[in-house]
Amino acid sequence: MKIKFVDLAGQNLEISERVAAEMDAVHSATSYVGGHQVESFEREFAEFLDVKRVVAVANGTDALRIALLALGVGPGDEVITVPMTFIATAASIVQIGARPRFVDIDPATGNMSLPALRSFLESLPRNERRAVRAIVPVHLYGLPAQIVELKEIAAEFNLKLVEDACQAHGARVRTADGMKMAGTIGDAGCFSFYPGKNLGAWGDGGAVATNDEEVAHRVRSLSNHGRLSHYAHEICGYNSRLDSIQAAVLRAKLEKLDEWNQRRRVVASAYRELLAPLDAQPILEPEGFESCYHLFVIRSNKRDAVRNALLQAEIECGIHYPVPLHLQPALAYLGYRAGDFPASEALADTTLSLPMHPHLDGQEILRTVQVVTTALPLSTEPFPATPSRNASPVVGTASSGA
Ligand SMILES: Cc1ncc(COP(=O)(O)O)c(C=O)c1O
Repeated sequence: MKIKFVDLAGQNLEISERVAAEMDAVHSATSYVGGHQVESFEREFAEFLDVKRVVAVANGTDALRIALLALGVGPGDEVITVPMTFIATAASIVQIGARPRFVDIDPATGNMSLPALRSFLESLPRNERRAVRAIVPVHLYGLPAQIVELKEIAAEFNLKLVEDACQAHGARVRTADGMKMAGTIGDAGCFSFYPGKNLGAWGDGGAVATNDEEVAHRVRSLSNHGRLSHYAHEICGYNSRLDSIQAAVLRAKLEKLDEWNQRRRVVASAYRELLAPLDAQPILEPEGFESCYHLFVIRSNKRDAVRNALLQAEIECGIHYPVPLHLQPALAYLGYRAGDFPASEALADTTLSLPMHPHLDGQEILRTVQVVTTALPLSTEPFPATPSRNASPVVGTASSGA
């Protein structure tokens, strides 16, 4: 029997009655863009995150693009991010006319390296430093980046902090005020509701979360034609809105999100325990960080052998991501070269995402680990510091998305 990478049908079974009732409400209100469903979702997601405002937009890429614009970042500015992420993180920076500047990741967590960020900022001559306006850390695979420390660095260098929380719905991190949700600590947090996300719609969707009323106002204006009223416009904005059908689905799934994330954490700890004797190198979950396990990622220099064994056994898996962004053709104009970001390149060469979803059962976990074991015996080989760049084909499933 095939083992799925994500199981959206399993989610649908749990929410179908609730969504059917909401769909009736959508059709009787005939309010298909914005309206009651979207407003309710924004309020409920803000409550879930414990943040002042959530503004729903059309997708996660727009959430990043519009959040940056709302914070005053634009043409000619520079924005620091990581190369080990989905293209949209950098594309949103490019789309506002700004230039992405990469810093490397921490090899243990896959998230932005604080020493790399600090040494990059300190190495810039004063006139170049002025162009840098914001930091966009990514909570990769659902594990929060070191956002408390990043906020301190952002304040020290007078930079805006925009969290790419597109993979981190419900992930939490310890702060001086207790555990806080990823996406609520920076100036703005950006979410994607692409179907395969922990909180996924039945199409595209996104949101910006913020504790700053003024930023929320600007995001709303930018995402809805700069509207003051139906035909009064303060700026020429964009059409980037969530529709009511997606909002109705998201409201139903939001009620399940805590439980589903908890189940993902159970799957993750089973994987960790069963994989412990192997040289599988799961991404670390440091003390004080609570991943929402959007993905469960192992690392191996035998990655391609493990992947082939899984695919042969009809177990879906993925590579997130096979080519770091500084080596993507779309960003070649930035002038980076292979070797510039060794930790990102090493992760791209060794990373493998195992099936991960709330409906994965014990048998499926066991079978997956058994197959991994056949290709990955108790290895004593050292983990490569700077592996060669081998061209790995992109693997994904229709629903795994970015
Ligand atoms: C890290 C990251 N950033 C940004 C995005 C963009 O989100 P969307 O596909 O909704 O535009 C995604 C998702 O797909 C993502 O994984």
